[in-house]
Amino acid sequence: MKTHNKNYIGFFDSGIGGISIWKRVKDLLPNENTIYLADCKNAPYGQKSKEEIIELSIKNTEFLLNQNVKIIVVACNTATTNAIQILRSKYTIPFIGIEPAIKPAGLITKTQRIGILATDKTLNSDLFAKTSEKLDSDIKIIEQVGKGLVNLIEGGHIESNEIKNLLHQYLQPMLQKNIDTLVLGCTHYSYLIPEIKKIIGKHIKIIDSSLAVAKQTKNILHSRNLLNINNEFKTIDQFYSNKNTTILSRILKNLPVTICEKNF
Ligand code: DGL
Repeated sequence: MKTHNKNYIGFFDSGIGGISIWKRVKDLLPNENTIYLADCKNAPYGQKSKEEIIELSIKNTEFLLNQNVKIIVVACNTATTNAIQILRSKYTIPFIGIEPAIKPAGLITKTQRIGILATDKTLNSDLFAKTSEKLDSDIKIIEQVGKGLVNLIEGGHIESNEIKNLLHQYLQPMLQKNIDTLVLGCTHYSYLIPEIKKIIGKHIKIIDSSLAVAKQTKNILHSRNLLNINNEFKTIDQFYSNKNTTILSRILKNLPVTICEKNF
């Protein structure tokens, strides 16, 4: 069945991290209108309590629902692992989440050692514990909290020495433990991939779940007849930040999107 549903795909994250997910979704579904909510005022989520993360995720969802979204992509591992079950039980709209790609990493590791860099609240969530338990018992996960990274990324210090030093500090112990696969369990860290590659070298594979999230978004829209197959109109892509828009504008420069500051 051909559908022309022009309602928006909504996204939220604590800031600019989820833009990597937005890009993947847009590449796969170029006819769709999108709204992205960057809750920069409340970043980082990774150091908040579960209750606070749930409260913020509900607030973000309400904002997006008021904009006529047809699906919400929780473009944040911390919000997904702490709040998506509550969101799904509270609202009828479909939610797509992103979780650390431990399972695919488990399928490709040869050394049986997987490194994961994520926020404190993701690594300590029940959802992450459940996914980890399903791995083959021979596989060891070397967990590392990326403390300080999100603040620096949100502050626009992606190529700073501070970030480089933190990455060395976080990744060297994983290398010593012989990982061959590194899972990036926070959407913000995708901005650090060039620097991470310099530290870990070519032989360690970096796994991120953004393509899987985009495919899942397409599948769900298709199965519920919610896709917009009409390609005759220019799509609308709106970005909102509740802090300032400097960092959003820098990341999105040259893209035909609208960027607004809004107090939510
Ligand atoms: N980008 C987020 C994630 O994927 C949130 C990071 C944070 O705000 O601490 O976990």
